[in-house]
Amino acid sequence: MTAQILDGKETSKKLLDAVAEELSTLQVVNRPKLAAVLVGENPASEIYVARKMKIAEQIGLDSELHRFPETVSQHELVEHLELLNNDTLVNAILVQLPLPKAIHSETILETVSPQKDVDGFHPMNLGKLLLGIEPPALPCTPAGIIQLLDAYKIPIEGKRAAVVGRSNIVGKPITLMLTHRNATVTLCHSLTQNLDEIVLSADIVVAAAGQPGLIRAEAIKPGAVVIDVGINRLPTGKLVGDVDFESVKERAGYITPVPGGVGPMTIAMLMMNTVRLFKNQQGQSLHGLLFV
Ligand code: GUN
Repeated sequence: MTAQILDGKETSKKLLDAVAEELSTLQVVNRPKLAAVLVGENPASEIYVARKMKIAEQIGLDSELHRFPETVSQHELVEHLELLNNDTLVNAILVQLPLPKAIHSETILETVSPQKDVDGFHPMNLGKLLLGIEPPALPCTPAGIIQLLDAYKIPIEGKRAAVVGRSNIVGKPITLMLTHRNATVTLCHSLTQNLDEIVLSADIVVAAAGQPGLIRAEAIKPGAVVIDVGINRLPTGKLVGDVDFESVKERAGYITPVPGGVGPMTIAMLMMNTVRLFKNQQGQSLHGLLFV
């Protein structure tokens, strides 16, 4: 059996077309605006932020990039975020991670207004996610994964899921989102014993550990849904995920490619979140993603 490819590129394109369509019909003086804060010159972050800014403009959002040198002080960053919080023309704020070591990331993420927190990383918004209260915005990568499963009508309820990687950006929030959709989720990490055994029992596997080749075909239940969040650059220059794609695709029922799987979905969710925050700030009601 060869797995069906979960095409994030195609799915995200449809979502972005819908967002662009919605934006074109908005009767507003100022378009929704996304402000991105980029500190330092991390090559991967440069690429990600440039891509986000480009797509924002393409679909008709207003966007602004706020760059700071690696040496920026925490105080200066906090002050700048407070300016953005108070700028009524800015609807959504993104702080690209990782931040330099000298900066206390938690303090920075806490400074972003929860109402403008397009990544859903503010403790209040992550707390709402934990409680099952729809926050103004959900973390983009996990939300994109749920959207991709929904687009392919893959059932979540009652299924067994294994999440590998416990980051605040992906592992923890996707565990909560799958739980709210009534999956039974095991959150695994680098110290998990018998990882293969747990993964083998899962109907849905989310690999988000940042380790190329971590998930091998032997650990995949035949027909399982395999979501690869990893983005790893091999010494050869090749971009690969955490899943050994070639062997796993012969056993899985569905699999996301890298690139072209979760990555484009993350960007689409960022755009959807920007519009969502804009509408929320205007007092419009939002429809949910947590519970369907
Ligand atoms: N760095 C890696 N993933 C993300 C993300 O989803 N949002 C932000 N802001 N930074 C990231």
